[in-house]
Amino acid sequence: MSKKDTRMWGGRFNQPTDEFVQRFTASVAFDRRLAAADIAGSLAHAAMIARIGVLSADELAAIEKGLDQIRSEIDGGSFEWSDALEDVHMNIEARLTALIGDAGKKLHTGRSRNDQVATDIRIYLRDEIADCRAGIRALQAGLLDLAEREADTIMPGFTHLQVAQPVTFGHHLLAWFEMLERDHSRFGDCARRLNQMPLGAAALAGTSYPIDRDFTASRLGFDAPCRNSIDAVSDRDFAIEFCAAAAICMTHLSRMAEELVLWSSAQFDFVRLPDRYCTGSSIMPQKKNPDVPELVRGKSGRVNGHLVSLLTLMKSQPLAYNKDNQEDKEPLFDTLDTLKGSLRAFADMAPAIEANRERMRAAARDGYATATDLADYLVKKGLPFRDAHEAVGGAVAYAIEQRKDLSELGLEELRQFDKRIDEDVFDVLSLDGSVGARDHFGGTAPAQVRKQVKAARKLIED
Ligand code: ARG
Repeated sequence: MSKKDTRMWGGRFNQPTDEFVQRFTASVAFDRRLAAADIAGSLAHAAMIARIGVLSADELAAIEKGLDQIRSEIDGGSFEWSDALEDVHMNIEARLTALIGDAGKKLHTGRSRNDQVATDIRIYLRDEIADCRAGIRALQAGLLDLAEREADTIMPGFTHLQVAQPVTFGHHLLAWFEMLERDHSRFGDCARRLNQMPLGAAALAGTSYPIDRDFTASRLGFDAPCRNSIDAVSDRDFAIEFCAAAAICMTHLSRMAEELVLWSSAQFDFVRLPDRYCTGSSIMPQKKNPDVPELVRGKSGRVNGHLVSLLTLMKSQPLAYNKDNQEDKEPLFDTLDTLKGSLRAFADMAPAIEANRERMRAAARDGYATATDLADYLVKKGLPFRDAHEAVGGAVAYAIEQRKDLSELGLEELRQFDKRIDEDVFDVLSLDGSVGARDHFGGTAPAQVRKQVKAARKLIED
């Protein structure tokens, strides 16, 4: 190549980069999302190298002013991104040099894009995790309102999707709350572990300048600098860990979505979703489709996929940095967008879910849901549990034949199955008696639901 090469690393090259290769290797179309984090990292790095005498006070001031201007250009949409400058880091650095001249060229002293990008992603993800956790809290708050409203609402609890035992709807909703509580804590663990700073690792081996990594780390809000430079530039397990936590959280949302889809069908008719979360059909005028839960259920698939992408991306990489790692960003960003969007949609929708209390109660009544209560009743009267199970099985078969619920059988009818059965059996066979009896920590009784809602409200406020 003739004369001076304009590429930032072009010194040793004597051929221009193939035009297609330039586009193929560029990441600026997606990594520009890291711009704010990149500028924050550069400001801290500049302050540190000024402290150790690499930059004069004037040069530092020029860099700070230049980066500030770049930030407003980016925010205002006037910044010109160029594929030829490959990535967010070189786009910003080139613009800085264009704005302030030679001082801009000194910014990269004692730094490499390898430690720079690893730092940027951590800064970016740290803030995004805080958003995800706030999104979880918002959904939890909505679920608690609904659970409190439906603390006394009786519905069938299911196993194998067959009616099992009566539960309160509030209790069922609190099960969702618990899944989200663990997600919230998982994201917290992830944020804690990722909060170590790669800067100073440079390309992989560290740098010969007398850098002060503690200074940079504390400026950037990191708990400490990464202990090993080779690990610092090559590791992306914080991104994998985030995607794993996101995949679990999306799996939870998908399970909730599945229940909402089932429950809003004409066959169940347990809940009504607000119209603004549903759409109609262009051909069938009667339809009201639960689009939002369906989409959230569907979107859990791509988040699981992104987790597998990142694991596969990492699995054969030798230490230290490899360009493969540029592929970490799109799965990570899409995971964030998908998770935050899904949480937001559910948080808005949850408090507006309307329970069809009569239908829920009727479904529990029709499903012989209190059969276990009858068995427990017989056990309390001295029958061994297995015998009680057998006797109640007979009673259920009889009731099915009579097309009646257990509570609708007469005392004499019930006594055919065991003579210990008395008038007091009807307290046990009632749905309210059944759920009210499960009045222990973690149980389904309305009183317990109210206690749990109260405790949960306190938990999410802390
Ligand atoms: N765009 C690159 C990435 O996302 C930045 C680091 C590039 N480092 C390098 N030595 N080519 O990973």
